[in-house]
This record gives sequence, structure tokens and C-alpha cells, in this order.
Amino acid sequence: MRIFALSDIHADYPDNRSWVENLSAVEFTADTLLLAGDISHNQDFFKKTLASLREKFAFVFFVSGNHDLWLRNTDCENSLVRFQQLLTTCAALDVRTEPARLNGTGSGVWIVPLQAWYEKPEESTRSLFVPKKGEDPTLKMWVDNRSIRWPDCSKTGTIADFFLKMNDHAVNRTYDAPVISFSHFLPRKELMFPSEKELQAWGPNIKDPQPRFNFSRVAGCTSLDDQIRQLGSDVHVYGHQHRNRHLNIDGVQYVSHCLGYPRERDEGRILGDTSTPRLIWDTGTSAGAAL
Ligand SMILES: [Fe+2]
Repeated sequence: MRIFALSDIHADYPDNRSWVENLSAVEFTADTLLLAGDISHNQDFFKKTLASLREKFAFVFFVSGNHDLWLRNTDCENSLVRFQQLLTTCAALDVRTEPARLNGTGSGVWIVPLQAWYEKPEESTRSLFVPKKGEDPTLKMWVDNRSIRWPDCSKTGTIADFFLKMNDHAVNRTYDAPVISFSHFLPRKELMFPSEKELQAWGPNIKDPQPRFNFSRVAGCTSLDDQIRQLGSDVHVYGHQHRNRHLNIDGVQYVSHCLGYPRERDEGRILGDTSTPRLIWDTGTSAGAAL
């Protein structure tokens, strides 16, 4: 069995829906797909995209992204209700949201979905915040501020705490095979910065598309990496930033492979082969890893 990674499908874009529809119906039927969030805020597109991918792959795993929890054209009273609704949709489509062991001809491998949210710098010291010159600290342009609504859970911590707590059963146990975990949000600051390869590919003239927007304010949280380390991940897949990267940090291979927005692909901001999900593991090889 091969394992593929993909995030940020954003199926509300017609080009991206076509991408999903055009993905081979025969190439991946013995394979597994990890979907690291941001399929769509539109419930119809969300369901259709998952159903289509479920038909093409033997197993599909999913964690939600921020866009999936937007409250637009929905009767959900808050984004946690929406989150529960997504889990119900996943269960109905046989899309996995809990840890599971995949057995191949090699050692097998564990897939561990990790729920998370981001910490803003004013919320905790576990934010991935890095100051940016000229930024708008009020994040006026960040749609989550208008389209995400949480119930009051301030007595029990931040929203990130709430989601990370859901991972306790996955973190506080042992695994008898290599572990691939995945989340939508970023677990470390190092992952936010462009590689030499990206800078060279972009060239000196590429402009910051949103100079006032500081992504690090809403990128993720360091507590997520604590969980990744505690459960002993060999590979961690993440999404959210719409940049395709692969870094090995202290023994964990961090990989992102998004589809992203059509304009980002057109502008060459997303490197790598975005015509297909990325192969990250092959249980049929003796070494296991395909990275
Ligand atoms: Fe996204």
C-alpha cells in the first residue's frame, strides 16, 4: 500500500473541483490518502469532494482545517457544532478521523490524525508568532475573524487547548509500527519560512501578496509539536500555509503538499507536482519511507 498526502483542496474553486474529478479512478484503488484540512466551507462541495476521493482510494483520513469550520450558509450555531457535523459526515462516508494501523507487506504503519487550532500571540506563548514589519496586528483581513464563532470555553483554556485535548488518547499510548501523524495547522516556526529552492524558483521579483498580513499569527501552535514528539511520529503531514515543503527536524520528517488556490499555482508560489497528491510512504518497500 502506498500513502499519499494532500491538503487545502478548497473545492469552492471550480478548477479545484475539476482537479479532484480528473484524478485517476484506477491508479489509487489500493492506496491511502491523508487529507490535511481545508476541503471547503460549502457543505455540498465538502461532501462531494470526500465522496469522490473515497471512491478513488482504499482509505481516506481527514482532519479539519479552518475553512471547513466557517459558518457560511449553515444553520450551525457555532464552529464546534460544525466540527461535530463534519465528523458525522466523515463517518457516513467511511472517512477515518481516528488512529488506525495499515498493514502492508512491510512493517505496516500507523496513521494518526491530530486535531488542532492556532494560538494567536495575544492568547499564549505557544503561538508560532514572528513579528513582521508593517503588519496589521488586528488581522482585519483574516476571514476567520468573521466566519468562525466559538462557544465560550475560556474557563478550560484556548480553542487550541480544546482541540489538542481531543488527541490525548492518540498521544498517550504506544505504537507497534512507524507513525505518520497529520494536522491542518503547523507545529513549528521553522516550517513557515521559504527554502532556498523556493526563493530561487520565485526569483527576486516575486512580491508579498499581502504585506499587511502576518501568517504567523494564525499558523499553528508549539503544543502540537509536543504531541508529535510524545507519540513518536516518523513523518508529520501538515497544511494551511499553501506552500509545499519537506524538512527533517530532529528526526521527524515534516511534509506539506497542498493544492491551494488556482492563482497561487498560476503565480508559481506552490512548488512541487500539484497534479497529484504526494507519495509519502510505501509499505511495500523494505525501508518503508518514500520521501
Ligand atoms: Fe487553506
